Amino acid sequence: MCGIVGYIGSEKACPILIDGLLKLEYRGYDSAGLSTIENNKIICLKDKGRVKGLQNMKEINTLNSSIGIAHTRWATHGKPCSVNAHPHLDCHKTFSVVHNGIIENYNELKAFLTNAGYTFVSETDTEVIPNLIHYYYTNGDEGDKDRFAKAVRRATLDLKGSYAIAVISSIEPDKIIVARKDSPLIIGTKDNEKFIASDIPAILEHTNNVYILNDGDLAKITNNNVTFYDEKFNTINKKAEIITWDAKSADKNGYDDFMLKEIYEQPTAIRETIGTRLDQNGKCNFDDINISKEYLLGISRIYIVACGTAMHAGLAVKPIFERLVSIPVEVDIASEFRYRNPLIDKSTLIICISQSGETADTIAALKASKAHGCKTIAISNVIGSSITREADFTIYTHAGPEIAVASTKAYTSQITVLTLLAIHFSEVLELEQGEMLQNLKDEILELPSKVSITLENTEQIKNFAKKIYKEKDVFFIGRGTDYTACMEASLKLKEISYIHSDAYQSGELKHGPIALIEDNVTVVGIITDRRLLYKSISNLQEVITRGAKTLIVTNQDISEKTFPNIIRIPKVHPLLSPVLSIIPLQLLAYYVSKEKDLDVDKPRNLAKSVTVE
Ligand code: F6R
Repeated sequence: MCGIVGYIGSEKACPILIDGLLKLEYRGYDSAGLSTIENNKIICLKDKGRVKGLQNMKEINTLNSSIGIAHTRWATHGKPCSVNAHPHLDCHKTFSVVHNGIIENYNELKAFLTNAGYTFVSETDTEVIPNLIHYYYTNGDEGDKDRFAKAVRRATLDLKGSYAIAVISSIEPDKIIVARKDSPLIIGTKDNEKFIASDIPAILEHTNNVYILNDGDLAKITNNNVTFYDEKFNTINKKAEIITWDAKSADKNGYDDFMLKEIYEQPTAIRETIGTRLDQNGKCNFDDINISKEYLLGISRIYIVACGTAMHAGLAVKPIFERLVSIPVEVDIASEFRYRNPLIDKSTLIICISQSGETADTIAALKASKAHGCKTIAISNVIGSSITREADFTIYTHAGPEIAVASTKAYTSQITVLTLLAIHFSEVLELEQGEMLQNLKDEILELPSKVSITLENTEQIKNFAKKIYKEKDVFFIGRGTDYTACMEASLKLKEISYIHSDAYQSGELKHGPIALIEDNVTVVGIITDRRLLYKSISNLQEVITRGAKTLIVTNQDISEKTFPNIIRIPKVHPLLSPVLSIIPLQLLAYYVSKEKDLDVDKPRNLAKSVTVE
């Protein structure tokens, strides 16, 4: 999705802007551009393609100004091309805007502005914004020291949809005005320099002292000052937050790709996520989540709502909550949940999972749940992200920045923290499950080292990747929690290798999908549940009989004589097995993608945080 970077200070803006855009490349984009002000004139450079293209433009080296805004665009309205790329200017070339989000009423605004004499060059929704700002600026009070900021405020009041914008003007070249609604924006401060970004990694190497804008906030930024305003243009106070991520954590750190680095960071990510939630004496700590026994006794259902990998983490923990808390759990896809009028009320607890905390559908689902009177908990990896501002309670995973589009360490951290939450609920309810809870706690504390052991076994996976990278279809089969891990494994493979893949419950094969199995088709099986061992083996034999080649991920006693390719993972509590069984299959997806020479971190058509519907 689109990315925003801005700078005002004492240094040359362009290198800082370009560097910030490079850090945001992981979000997925198709064009890039920047605007700065030289001698009271806006200079705007933009083009289709990579940030490197922008960086290599000759003119860029002639720009010395210390103010600027920049953008990577992921096309929604209008094809990817130089004219549609951001920044956009008004037709008088006095205001320049970068914008994330979608202006839903842009046709109406365009008609109004056209009538008032404004002209447009692009197919975008964004171009109405600088023109609208010009319109209100022209109608503002001459001599008003806040004329520019007020024009932006007035213009945003006409916008329907979502936006994070940063605006500069050749008339007032000493400030940047920013505003947000339903799209993230942060301002970093360091002495007499200010940094703007849609995402923390863009500015992390400069500062970790940031203000996070709320919906409806507008800020006037000079190199020395940041002033915040509400929707009525009253000044408001805001507290800066300290981001604890290390700047290095947003670098590849010697790895070829962010995805591989993030796969290998999982032991640390899980350890950090357990953090103080579970101490060595086995005490679970969720004092910051005010959920009482009385409240839990009144709960008839828990809904876990999320998208993609985060939803798969929800599926993995559903049996854990049901076993430990004895409350039925539904797991729903946020984009469906929000539109299907679910039967929810104040007796429903909603848990929304979102690594980025910015996924539009998940945020909308959470807002809809609140409107029905439900209590809401957000599970997120990004401090201060939009979802954390909407939820009644937030529980952070501490996986560190996840840059690769394909989510890996977020998934295993989400399962870890949600298992701890389920244990906490069981303790609050005094359900007398002491032994089982203690057992699970011990297993959770051992997860980081078991994940490390699992990560040691790569040769076999690399070899199997070489065997299957030319395949058209791959099937993943498993039962129970193994099936939920299969869904995630299948998503990983298809999104970064572009091989079609599907996950099926092993027992369901005979009811249709087995018709697809023929000579040499690849079937990957996960078998970690001892109770279902023989049934799962039979299902795999059925596909072998029909010519399939198989790969099995297991911690059970299965002989190589029966199945040729077996990847062994450590024994683990069956409820926690997806945390281990997914690891070799994340690696398989990675190595298949490498064999195909694809861009692992930035798969086609995908974006890291999906901030539009
Ligand atoms: C897949 C992937 C996506 C995300 C989904 C939700 O590898 O990364 O499926 O899991 O877009 O994103 P968040 O968790 O940021 O809400």
